[in-house]
Amino acid sequence: MKDTYILGIESSCDETAASIVKNGCEILSNVVLTQIERHRIFGGVVPEIASRLHIEGISHTVDLAIEKSGIAKEDISAIAVTAAPGLIGSLLVGVNYAKALSLVLDKPLVPVHHLRGHIAANYLYENAPKPPFLCLIASGGHSHIVIAHSYTDFEVIGRTRDDAAGEAFDKAARAMGLSYPGGVEIDKRAVLGNKNAFKLPHPHLDTPYDYSFSGLKTAVLNTLNQAKMRGEELNLNDLCASFQDTVCDILTEKLFLAARDRGIKTVVAAGGVCANSGLREYLKRRAEENGCTLYYPPVSLCGDNAAMIAAQGYHEFLKGVRAPLSLNAYATMDIANVNFSK
Ligand code: KG4
Ligand code: ZN
Repeated sequence: MKDTYILGIESSCDETAASIVKNGCEILSNVVLTQIERHRIFGGVVPEIASRLHIEGISHTVDLAIEKSGIAKEDISAIAVTAAPGLIGSLLVGVNYAKALSLVLDKPLVPVHHLRGHIAANYLYENAPKPPFLCLIASGGHSHIVIAHSYTDFEVIGRTRDDAAGEAFDKAARAMGLSYPGGVEIDKRAVLGNKNAFKLPHPHLDTPYDYSFSGLKTAVLNTLNQAKMRGEELNLNDLCASFQDTVCDILTEKLFLAARDRGIKTVVAAGGVCANSGLREYLKRRAEENGCTLYYPPVSLCGDNAAMIAAQGYHEFLKGVRAPLSLNAYATMDIANVNFSK
């Protein structure tokens, strides 16, 4: 059978990325140009700066990904691009670049949902999971529990009511005076702290698989304020460890409750927060306790990258998904109801 080479392009937030993936599973190149240093002084991503940096970096990033892959431009089977969800100005840079390339090279254009891409990061290493499976998506903008019925058919059974898990990490870190992106900083400090030092609240919701992290964030703020008012020096490592442990406990408790209720034995994790060392430990322990087979990507593929977009693009391409050159970008879109022709 003829090999399929997908060029993936990703620019939904603060990473300009391009990759060539062979047959949906083999990474030939994976170039990620991160903007983190340029946003750090502002304590978070500045959308206007992000779009401008994507424009500066995209051409070189895509050229480099093609060059490093060792294949010729003519051999590309299709161009897959993140078209939703994300920062609209950032998404438009990748979408417009992909459209121009599709026209020039005369290659099909395949729009990809960013969160489907995060899940597809799991197809890029050996013994990859095959749908159906239950999946936790924990990223900077989303916290979902989804059932992947197939590579392109998803059902959301739980979602956050307020902050996403990554957002909670970032906001708690900012309150503690740690630098952006906060998740990484909290993870580093948590390893050195005592997770039982602070008792932080678990939310009580009437829907079993939904998340809420805003109460936890408020509890961290209150703890910091009370210590300040009393003139006490707080042990930040302990607070990081307690916060991280609570988030990971909540994320995995609901995930495995869903696995038990739905009788699903294959559990997959995806998204930037899955790089968290505490979350990986919790996932392993709870998967074992519940007799589930667990999959999560290597840390290097948890954050935003284009290999995951190419991997999902492969499955969308096989399904026949194509976009015309009038393709738009969308700041929000449900992973289960993908519609790029609105
Ligand atoms: O999936 P992602 O790269 O981008 C989105 O699609 O949102 O996720 C970024 C999020 C940020 O909130 C970042 O703080 C968090 O992932 N993150 C982590 C870790 N590494 C990245 N959170 C906790 N622990 C980490 N080690
Ligand atoms: Zn992402």
